[in-house]
Amino acid sequence: MTVSSPCVGEGQGRVLIIGASGFIGEFIAQASLDSGRTTFLLVRSLDKGAIPSKSKTINSLHDKGAILIHQGVIEDQEFVEGILKDHKIDIVISAVGGANILNQLTIVKAIKAVGTIKRFLPSEFGHDVDRANPVEPGLAMYKEKRMVRRLIEESGVPYTYICCNSIASWPYYDNTHPSEVIPPLDHFQIYGDGTVKAYFVDGSDIGKFTMKVVDDIRTLNKSVHFRPSCNFLNMNELSSLWEKKIGYMLPRLTVTEDDLLAAAAENIIPQSIVASFTHDIFIKGCQVNFSIDGPNEVEVSNLYPDETFRTMDECFDDFVMKMDRWN
Ligand SMILES: NC(=O)c1ccc[n+]([C@@H]2O[C@H](COP(=O)([O-])OP(=O)(O)OC[C@H]3O[C@@H](n4cnc5c(N)ncnc54)[C@H](OP(=O)(O)O)[C@@H]3O)[C@@H](O)[C@H]2O)c1
Repeated sequence: MTVSSPCVGEGQGRVLIIGASGFIGEFIAQASLDSGRTTFLLVRSLDKGAIPSKSKTINSLHDKGAILIHQGVIEDQEFVEGILKDHKIDIVISAVGGANILNQLTIVKAIKAVGTIKRFLPSEFGHDVDRANPVEPGLAMYKEKRMVRRLIEESGVPYTYICCNSIASWPYYDNTHPSEVIPPLDHFQIYGDGTVKAYFVDGSDIGKFTMKVVDDIRTLNKSVHFRPSCNFLNMNELSSLWEKKIGYMLPRLTVTEDDLLAAAAENIIPQSIVASFTHDIFIKGCQVNFSIDGPNEVEVSNLYPDETFRTMDECFDDFVMKMDRWN
């Protein structure tokens, strides 16, 4: 069943987004609408009474012009093929969560069967999963993302993998969506000696640049890495930046490599997955221990040198404004 929208934009390619009610998916859906593309959202159910925030997200995207498709799941290949054909979809973007990565195998099979999709972006939106090797339980998720990659490549489905690194926020080691939480106000937890750098990207920029690459010929069958030089920071620098914003210094407590490994080994899902990624980023340096020079990889700032990223400084201002609204 399709719910039509009052104002549908006419961009270049018709986009289907799976997972728009989710954390990353909402940024992408918003950017797709902002780019003026005809944007379809596959929503598992419109009855989101149990989770009002998801209902609000979907309703808001619908009001902005998104066309809602529901009453079906991505595990049903025939259903997905029908959507792709009936709505003449050109580009499919999946932002399903970590627990549903393998559900995408059916999407890949449907895309192959239909044969008209110009680009598929699977749910990646983090690190290069062929390069990074976190400890368990994060590794299990990467193994699933790798399985989806291999099926895409074997099927000859045109693809782009988005490796956008960390979402701009305080990188809490036990929170899957840290940008929804204010940075610390009592003490910092610094991973290791706090000197290993990472790249931080605002959610709106993850959406904006994802939508720029979807039909750029230079990103066909490539991994696109997000490395904004303005947001290349370690934990010590991040702490100082936040202290300037709040106007006072906070004690810095060390979370050692062993502490992170112990949190990962507890195998509490999803917190232990986040602990294993935190260890990979801020102890092992998984975002910075390689250069982007392979034939199948590009860096997004090199593709669009005139486009700017929101800075961590601006993102921290957003948190201060949020705090002001609470007071
Ligand atoms: N770089 C970073 O800092 C960062 C941070 C977080 C996540 N990520 C990555 O971003 C991707 C998305 O994660 P997320 O945290 O945004 O996920 P999320 O918030 O859990 O949202 C998942 C979305 O997928 C939908 N979905 C799940 N299974 C589905 C199915 N079988 N059929 C249809 N829809 C389905 C959900 O729909 P319902 O509303 O029906 O549940 C929801 O809209 C993941 O690959 C994750 O690893 C990266």
